[in-house]
Amino acid sequence: IKTIGVLTSGGDAPGMNAAIRAVVRTALTKGLNVKGIMRGYAGLLKEEIIDMNGTSVSDIIQRGGTILYTARCEEFRHEEGQKLGAEICRKHGIDGLVVIGGDGSFNGACKLANLGINTIGLPGTIDLDIACTDYTIGFDTAVNTAIEAIDKVRDTSTSHERCSIIEVMGRHAGYIALWCGIANGAEDILLPERYDHDEQTLINHIIENRKRGKKHHIIINAEGIGHSAAMAKRIEAATGVETRATILGHMQRGGTPTAKDRVYASIMGAKAVDLLLEGKSNRVVAYNHGDFVDFDINEALAMKKDIPEYQFNVSKWLVR
Ligand code: F6P
Repeated sequence: IKTIGVLTSGGDAPGMNAAIRAVVRTALTKGLNVKGIMRGYAGLLKEEIIDMNGTSVSDIIQRGGTILYTARCEEFRHEEGQKLGAEICRKHGIDGLVVIGGDGSFNGACKLANLGINTIGLPGTIDLDIACTDYTIGFDTAVNTAIEAIDKVRDTSTSHERCSIIEVMGRHAGYIALWCGIANGAEDILLPERYDHDEQTLINHIIENRKRGKKHHIIINAEGIGHSAAMAKRIEAATGVETRATILGHMQRGGTPTAKDRVYASIMGAKAVDLLLEGKSNRVVAYNHGDFVDFDINEALAMKKDIPEYQFNVSKWLVR
């Protein structure tokens, strides 16, 4: 391996910059050249490739977003796009590629590996929905951003004695909702993995709480369930309690990364370079049981994960 390329793909996540920095600086330390590929696979196909040095990644570890920009690329889902991508890598002398993104991005990385480009994936998504790892770059920051926002909504919700439905991101997964629900002491937590569409239980819970003198009722609703505004209207009609919906949206993806996201992303970035130097390809870096490990991308993509049962139970026991 002489030249490593690095790109970010899919939804951005705080900590991606720390990972890019670690890839660049580790590679330089070990005598390699580094090229940055702008705008994910879309930029690769347009040959938006820049040389990177130690200073290209100065002053970025504390920044949200990704200095390489990111995109979702339809063309790269097809064989022609993948072949062109591999050719462009070869043309630019890129013999190792680090892809920072989610499952969709790993799928592309796997295709490139089959076409002879050594690739390593780093799990970058706020959703925590990558089955092979207990940690993804950005989740910790996103949850911390969301809990701060939810605390604020709670202040006004209590003052007005309202019920608030707060919708958090996560695509089809409920990890952000579960963590916010526990961390914010929500009255109800709705997770796509466990949702039974039983709105009457929710309504009864709100009415009982009012009878007990409770002034607020925070419902954390995961994006995978969605429809928070319509839900708020139905709940208000059924309970007589003024109800508002707040969708936190993309603010959850921004902001300065937490220490955990900076440090774990840095370690993962360095490990990606080391794996390439060991001659490995088609691997994804993961964090499990206190260790940074790696899996075959195909095996990683076939894995399934679910909300941990005990965590889910705890979230139920603490609700009143
Ligand atoms: O995967 C990260 C994520 O923020 C999801 O939580 C959300 O469903 C999606 O991306 C939103 O995507 P976009 O930025 O394209 O609206």
